[in-house]
Amino acid sequence: MKKILITRRLLRSCEEKASESFDAKHNFNDELYSQDQLIKLSEGCDGILSSITDKIDEKTIYQLPKTIKIISNFAVGFGNIDLQAAKKRGIIVTNTPDVLTDATAEIGVLLILGACRRASEGIDSARKSNWRWSTDYLIGKQLTGSRLGILGMGRIGQKIARIAKSLGMIIHYHNRTKLNAEKENGAIYHNDIKSLFSESDVLSICCPSTKETQNLINKETLEYFPIGAVITNVARGDIVDDEALIEALKKKKIYAAGLDVYKNEPNLNPGYLKQKNIFILPHLGSATKETRIAMANLAIENIVEYFDTGSCKNKVN
Ligand code: DGY
Repeated sequence: MKKILITRRLLRSCEEKASESFDAKHNFNDELYSQDQLIKLSEGCDGILSSITDKIDEKTIYQLPKTIKIISNFAVGFGNIDLQAAKKRGIIVTNTPDVLTDATAEIGVLLILGACRRASEGIDSARKSNWRWSTDYLIGKQLTGSRLGILGMGRIGQKIARIAKSLGMIIHYHNRTKLNAEKENGAIYHNDIKSLFSESDVLSICCPSTKETQNLINKETLEYFPIGAVITNVARGDIVDDEALIEALKKKKIYAAGLDVYKNEPNLNPGYLKQKNIFILPHLGSATKETRIAMANLAIENIVEYFDTGSCKNKVN
């Protein structure tokens, strides 16, 4: 039986499945392992079932025992792992696509609604029971008829587009490649970000974090947006230059932001917390029971598939 280090707790039924599938080394205290602990605990293991909280960089990869052949990441994103270093060391990295599309898209839509309709301020007032209704009280931005720009029209972007369309939004998008008509579903393609941003009343960031997308939302690109645009991010925190966005929020160039992901999670840039016009969540994208079960099962199946066949359809490096 293959021996696998599972770095974080999984839901109970998934831990049982893991124990049936391999000799699983669980983390029942759900401790956040340091890189040194991760290296040490991997001794004698054939693979690692990791999560987005494990920073498996080049240095860590090179110190992993030679027996490690697979890192199965419990996430669709894999920015926490140095893919090239893993490849050089002969370690395959896999992810869990598809199964979290719906849950993450739901949070993407919540960010759009929450930021546009001033949900944070509204919740705060309702909790304090101190509001006084008036015709201009907490007036927000209506989604119906406004333009939604989607940056990264993969599965999650397409699902957000479908829901937003049903809310009456007009969908624009930028993607590395233009989609076919069926996937586009009436959305308008822009072949560069300047063109997309200048047509976006609301932006939904859905692209992966790569060298090309890091800090893509910055002082210069924020200028491309119409005054009073809304920026939302359900993808990864490092796509946004925080200081630039905070400055744009302060100046009201950007009306509001809706964020589920951050640089240096869980430590948000404190500048965000001083802003009223933000709607923030603690990385809840995939946080539903059904989805977390499906993700864990897929992460387990990826390992089984790899050791059974020598390859895996969800390999990302
Ligand atoms: C992912 O899978 O990349 C999600 O962000 C995890 O919640």
